[in-house]
Amino acid sequence: MNNIKSYVENNRDRFLSELIDLLKIPSVSADSKHKPDMLKTAEAVKKNLLEAGCDSAEICETPGHPVVYGEKIIDKNLPTVLVYGHYDVQPPDPLDLWNSPPFDPVIKETEIHPEGAIFARGACDDKGQMYMHVKALEYMTKNDALPCNVKFMIEGEEEVGSEHLAWFIENNREKLQNDVILISDTGMIAKDTPSITTGLRGLSYMEVEVTGPNRDLHSGLYGGAVANPINVLSKMIASLQDEDNRITIPGFYDNVKEYSEAERAKMAEAPFDLEEYKKKLDIADVQGEKGYSTLERASIRPTLDVNGIWGGYIGEGAKTVLPSKAYAKISMRLVSDQDWENISELFTKHFESLAPKSVKVKVTTHHGGQAYVTPIDTLEYQAANDAYAEAFGKDPIPQHSGGSIPIVSLFEKELKSKTILMGFGFDTDAIHSPNEHFGIWNYLKGIETIPLFYKHFTKLKQAE
Ligand code: BES
Ligand code: MN
Ligand code: MN
Repeated sequence: MNNIKSYVENNRDRFLSELIDLLKIPSVSADSKHKPDMLKTAEAVKKNLLEAGCDSAEICETPGHPVVYGEKIIDKNLPTVLVYGHYDVQPPDPLDLWNSPPFDPVIKETEIHPEGAIFARGACDDKGQMYMHVKALEYMTKNDALPCNVKFMIEGEEEVGSEHLAWFIENNREKLQNDVILISDTGMIAKDTPSITTGLRGLSYMEVEVTGPNRDLHSGLYGGAVANPINVLSKMIASLQDEDNRITIPGFYDNVKEYSEAERAKMAEAPFDLEEYKKKLDIADVQGEKGYSTLERASIRPTLDVNGIWGGYIGEGAKTVLPSKAYAKISMRLVSDQDWENISELFTKHFESLAPKSVKVKVTTHHGGQAYVTPIDTLEYQAANDAYAEAFGKDPIPQHSGGSIPIVSLFEKELKSKTILMGFGFDTDAIHSPNEHFGIWNYLKGIETIPLFYKHFTKLKQAE
C-alpha cells in the first residue's frame, strides 16, 4: 500500500475542498431551525459515500434526524468493517468569540498546525474525522485495495444524545452485522505520539429548577426574610463536592472501578506536561479529586460540573430583585462500572433532600450513557496497533479519554462486536468551543492510516 501516501498527496486539495463544502452546512442538531440543514448534510454525505465507491447509500428516516447508511459488499465471506460517525455539530455559540464565521471555513496556520488547520464548527468533531473514512474508502476502491466489506452508519444526533440511534440499531440489527466497529471521533496525544482511545466516560446530564416565592420580589422589602432561590441553589451545588473535591452524593462511588497501582503507573507513562497544560489554559493551578493526577482526573475518575446556571436579572445595569426561580444544568462524567440511570436517580434523590423547606426543587434528567472500556489483548486492537505502527513508525499508546460517545457501549451490546476508536484530533482543537479546527496534517494522516487498519484487520481475521 505504498501509494496511499502519494494518492493522499495528489488529491490533497480536492480532499480539503470537499470537506470545506460539508463544513459550510450548519448541521446543528440541537436547534430545530436547522432541520433543513440536517437533511441537506445527510444528502451530501450520501452523495459522498456513493462517489467514494459505496454500492448503495440511503437516508434512513428516524423519529429525529436521519441516519445515513451506505455499504460496499465485495464478498460475503470476507470480514465487514462498520464505520460510525456523526454529521451533526454543536451549536457555534458564542458567535462573537469566533475569529471567522463558524460555517465559513478558513485555513490558517497555528503553532501546532504549521501545515495549516481548517477552522469551522465540526471541522474536527466530527465532520472532518468522519470524512477521513469516506476518503480512505475512495482510495481503497479506486486502487483495488479494499480487502473486505464496509458499512457506514453516519448519524445526526450524536451531539444531542443519540436518542434515535438506539432505535435505528434495534430495527436494523441484520443490516448492521459486522466484525468490528471503527470510529474516528476522539483524539490522539501528539504528532509523534500516536494513541488509540481505549476508554470513554459515561454521562448523566441533569437540569434543576429551584423555586422560591411565587413571583419576583423587591429585594429590599423581602430580602433577608424570604429564601432567594439563587442563593439556595448556589449552596446546594457547593455542597455536592467536599474539600477533597469528592462528590458527596451517597452511593456515587459505589461501582467506580479502581485501577491497580500497576495499571496507574502504566497510564502515567503517557507524555503529559502539567506546566504546559496550565500555560495553555492560562490558569495558575489545576484542581481536582485528591489523590489523583490531572490525567487521571480527566479520564478514569468521575466528575460533576455545572454547565450553566441562570436566574434573576442579568441585563445591563443593576436591578434589585429577589428572583422567584433559579436553574442549573449539571452533568456528571461517569466511569465503569457506574450505571448512568442509577446515578441520575441517586442525584435526584440527593438533590431533592438538600432543599430547605423554603424552596421547591424540580430535577429532570436530560440524557446519559454508559462509560466504555475496551481491552487491548484483542485481534481488533492488534490490527489497529499494526496500522498505526506502519503509518507512524511506532506503536500507539492506549489511552483513556475523558469524553463520551454514549452509543459505543450500546453498539457492543446490540451488535456484539468490538469498537476501535481511532481518533486523530488534538485536545487543543477547540471542539465544542469557538474557533474549532482540525489540522490538515491530522486529516491526511487519518486518511493514510485507515486503509492500513482494513489491511491488518482482514489479514489477522483470516488467519484466525
Ligand atoms: N466526539 C465527542 C466525544 C469525544 C471527544 C470523546 C474527544 C473523546 C475525545 C462527541 O461528539 C461528544 O462531544 N460527546 C459529548 C456527549 C454527547 C452525549 C453530547 C460529550 O462528550 O460531551
Ligand atoms: Mn463527536
Ligand atoms: Mn461533540
